[in-house]
Amino acid sequence: MIIEPRTRGFICLTAHPKGCEQNVINQIEYVKSKGEIDGAKKVLVIGASTGFGLASRITSAFGSNASTIGVFLEKAPSAGRPASPGWYNSAAFEQQAEKAGLYAKSINGDAFSNEIKKQTIDMIKEDLGQVDLVIYSLASPVRTNPNTGKRHKSVLKPIGDVFTNKTVDFHTGNVSEVTIQPATEDDISNTVEVMGGEDWDMWITAMKEAGVLAQDFQTYAYSYIGPKLTEPVYRKGTIGAAKDDLEATAFKITEKSADLNGKAIVSVNKALVTQASSAIPVIPLYISLLYKIMKADGIHEGCIEQIQRLYADRIYGADLQLDDKGRVRIDDWEMREDVQAEVDKLWAIATTENLNEIGDLKGYSDDFFNLFGFKVDGVDYAADVDEVVAIPSIG
Ligand code: NAI
Ligand code: NA
Repeated sequence: MIIEPRTRGFICLTAHPKGCEQNVINQIEYVKSKGEIDGAKKVLVIGASTGFGLASRITSAFGSNASTIGVFLEKAPSAGRPASPGWYNSAAFEQQAEKAGLYAKSINGDAFSNEIKKQTIDMIKEDLGQVDLVIYSLASPVRTNPNTGKRHKSVLKPIGDVFTNKTVDFHTGNVSEVTIQPATEDDISNTVEVMGGEDWDMWITAMKEAGVLAQDFQTYAYSYIGPKLTEPVYRKGTIGAAKDDLEATAFKITEKSADLNGKAIVSVNKALVTQASSAIPVIPLYISLLYKIMKADGIHEGCIEQIQRLYADRIYGADLQLDDKGRVRIDDWEMREDVQAEVDKLWAIATTENLNEIGDLKGYSDDFFNLFGFKVDGVDYAADVDEVVAIPSIG
C-alpha cells in the first residue's frame, strides 16, 4: 500500500516501514562512525523500540557488539493497517543485527506485567545466561500494577497552583495561552505509579532472584529536569513527582545489589521530540526555541547522539561526572547558562507571527513526522510498500 501520515492531534495513526528502517540504519551508521565503545556485551533494554531506548539498543549492539534483548509494547501490522513505528523500528533493527552477526531477540508485551518479566528472564537464561547492562526506558500513559491488579493513568498537571503559560500547536504554528488546573492527590499518586521507580525495582529484583544479573552489572533509567520555564508542568508537576521517585529508586536498587556490586544510576537526558513529549503542553514551544539555539551553536543532538555520548564519554568513559544527587547529566548542553538565557529571551517575545523565524518550528514538525517514518530523506513515499513486516524473532 501507499502509506501517508494520518495525524489526530498530537499523535500520528500511521507509520512507514521504509522510513522507520532508514531511521534505524541512519542511527546505526552514526554509532559506527563514532568508533568502538568498550561496553557491556549482554544487554537488556526495556522500552527498546523508540526514542532513547532504541538509541540505547543500537549503541550497545553497533558500538560494543553486544547481544541485545529488547522489550516493548507495539502494534503489529495487518493487511491494510500499518504497524506502530516501534514495530517497524524493531524489525529493521533485528535485520541489521542479523546481517552484522549480532544476537538480537525481542519481546512484545506489557513490561509492567509479571508474565513479560518471566518470559524475558527465561530468554536471558536460555540464550545469554546473564546480562551486564539493563536499560530501563519505558514511557507509558498507563500501568496495571501486577500486585494489586489496579490500572493507573498518569497525568501531566502542575502541583499546587494553576499554571498559565504559552504553548504552540506545532502543526499550525499557532502560539496561544494554555491554563492547566492543578493535580489532585490521586493524580499525583497515579502518575508516580506509572512513571515512578516501582517497576524498575520489580524488574531488577526479579532478575536478581533468578540469577540473570552478572557480577558488577549496571542499570540505567532516564529522567528529565529542564528549565525554570517548564518547572510547573514538568519537574514540579505530577511527572516530576514520578521522576523524583524514579531517582530515589536508583539508590534503593544499588543498596540491594551490593552482593553483586551492581549499580543503578539515573541519566538526565535532553528534551527531545518523542511521542511522549509532544503531548505535554508548553514543552513543544520550549523545544522549538531550544532547537533553534542549539542548532545555531552546533550543539544540537537527537536521541542517538545523546546516548552515544552517554555511553562513550560517561558510562564507559573516563568519568560519570555525577551531580550532587548522584545523576549523570547528559542534558549538560541543554542546560548551559548561555543557551537557557537565550531561550528566556526568545520565550518572552514568541508569537504566532515570529515563531517561524525565532524558533525551529520546522525542525520540531520534521522530527515529529520522522518518529513515524515520514519525511525521511531518501525514502520514496510514492512507492507501494508492504505494510506487513515481521520482526524476525517474533514473526
Ligand atoms: P518513547 O515513547 O519513545 O519510548 C517508550 C518505550 O516504552 C517504547 O519502546 C514503548 O514500546 C515502550 N513501552 C511503553 N509502554 C510499555 C509497556 N507497557 N510495556 C512494554 N513497553 C512499553 O519515549 P522516550 O521519550 O524515549 O522516553 C524514554 C524515557 O526517557 C522516559 O523515562 C522519559 O521520561 C525519558 N526522557 C525523555 C525525554 C524526552 O524529551 N523525550 C527527555 C529526558 C528523559
Ligand atoms: Na525509549
